[in-house]
Amino acid sequence: MKRALVLYHSLYGNTKSVAEHLARGLEEAGLMVACLSIDDVDLAAIPDYSLVAIGSPTHMIRPSKDMREFLKRLRFLDLSGLAGFSFDTRTESRMNRRGFSFLENSAARVIEGTMKRLKMTIIRPRASALVQGTEGPLASEESENFRMIGREIGALLAV
Ligand SMILES: Cc1cc2nc3c(=O)[nH]c(=O)nc-3n(C[C@H](O)[C@H](O)[C@H](O)COP(=O)(O)O)c2cc1C
Repeated sequence: MKRALVLYHSLYGNTKSVAEHLARGLEEAGLMVACLSIDDVDLAAIPDYSLVAIGSPTHMIRPSKDMREFLKRLRFLDLSGLAGFSFDTRTESRMNRRGFSFLENSAARVIEGTMKRLKMTIIRPRASALVQGTEGPLASEESENFRMIGREIGALLAV
């Protein structure tokens, strides 16, 4: 059975909830899944998984500080060829607060860029979940959406 790792950072619990729904979808697709906070993961074990999904809240159009520090630590691992998927939560649409659209308002954009630099294989393009205000809750359709994304990725991995 293939193993998947879903990692998240979450201040108010919304990104954690998205991670858990993603994990549930992956499980429904037949994978063995660990869903962990970045504070609890054993870095050395990451290369043992078939898939690593990483999610962060969007803070000032990029990942949270804790997530940015975690991403730096991944440089010391050989993750080339490992399947990767990135996701985030955010309150606003693709445009950032000043209305500029040249830099996407998305933590997942940065996480996906890190995955590419580490030569991971992006198994599915990044995805975002909208929250209704800084502390949430998640917009109503997002939980089910991420469960579906989990199933979709699980099916891709099975091929
Ligand atoms: C310091 C800070 C900066 C934020 N900056 C942005 C931002 O640039 N764009 C945005 O859409 N949401 C922004 N938000 C809202 C967060 O994206 C939202 O709090 C987060 O998605 C909730 O996830 P969590 O419950 O996992 O922490 C910001 C929130 C905080 C606390």
